[in-house]
Amino acid sequence: MGLNPYLPRPVKIIRIKDETPDTKTITISPKPFEDFTPGQFAMVTVYGVGEAPFSICSSPSNDNLQFSIRKMGIVTTAIHEASPDDEIGIRGPYGKGWPLKEMENKDILLIGGGIGFAPLRPLLLYLLENRSRYGGIAVCYGARSPPLLMYRNEFEEWVERGIDLYLTVDIGEGDWKGNVGVVTTILNKPRLNKAETIVCICGPPMMIRFVLKRLVELDYPKDNIYASLESKMRCGIGKCGHCHFGGKHVCMDGPVFRYYEMMELPRGIAPF
Ligand SMILES: Cc1cc2nc3c(=O)[nH]c(=O)nc-3n(C[C@H](O)[C@H](O)[C@H](O)COP(=O)(O)OP(=O)(O)OC[C@H]3O[C@@H](n4cnc5c(N)ncnc54)[C@H](O)[C@@H]3O)c2cc1C
Ligand code: FES
Repeated sequence: MGLNPYLPRPVKIIRIKDETPDTKTITISPKPFEDFTPGQFAMVTVYGVGEAPFSICSSPSNDNLQFSIRKMGIVTTAIHEASPDDEIGIRGPYGKGWPLKEMENKDILLIGGGIGFAPLRPLLLYLLENRSRYGGIAVCYGARSPPLLMYRNEFEEWVERGIDLYLTVDIGEGDWKGNVGVVTTILNKPRLNKAETIVCICGPPMMIRFVLKRLVELDYPKDNIYASLESKMRCGIGKCGHCHFGGKHVCMDGPVFRYYEMMELPRGIAPF
């Protein structure tokens, strides 16, 4: 008899960090699987409560695993109420991650909105750790307000390590001196070789929709554009049908899709 694919591996929460007012980053140990591709996700179980999918947000080279989790409902609230040393379950890694091979020797543009930076952070860390294999790297990241920008304490280091970082917020509160406006207002700023740039996007569906439109206006080739999409999921392994749209399983064929694949997805999942 084979191993039960639904059985989560027990792990401990070893650290909990307030990332934004509604999001906590948890660090878990031991790492329940050897390797993963940035952009992949895992199913996180709170015993006695339930299970939900989350993007892995730490670097594949880390000894631990991290998730940034926004409080939404039953499972995410239970995670927000957890304490260091609590046991949770993990199964994964699942889905298709970002196209690392295709990115080699290319410029790279990462575009994130709010919590949508979670699956882009392991990619950014991976690119920094393997810097010589990639060209210029730019990041355009927006959130509703400055406190909702995730990983703020890492921005300075990213810039020091050569990342072209462009930030924006919808509402410029407090001592914010940066750009105010939606993320599409900063997409003209990166100085990249557009014809040879791979673009990776994650954020709310409405943001992805307007970003795709703007990227095409700015002459980024559609073939080089990828986005990570979200759908309701239950099994994570192509069996339950909860994430099945137009012949694709978001859990297996995605969550990272190419531009032309997205165009073929039906309404409700496609960001159009
Ligand atoms: C591949 C993937 C990666 C994800 N990565 C992250 C991440 O890194 N960080 C993070 O905070 N969240 C992430 N999510 C979303 C996360 O899975 C949901 O917020 C979570 O399932 C909510 O569970 P809950 O039990 O707290 O909410 P519930 O009690 O189940 O629901 C609360 C509300 O959220 C809605 N909802 C639940 N799941 C989803 C969903 N998948 N999409 C849209 N609405 C939903 C419900 O309809 C309801 O209105 C990801 C989802 C997917 C599919
Ligand atoms: S989540 Fe069950 S088929 Fe994708």
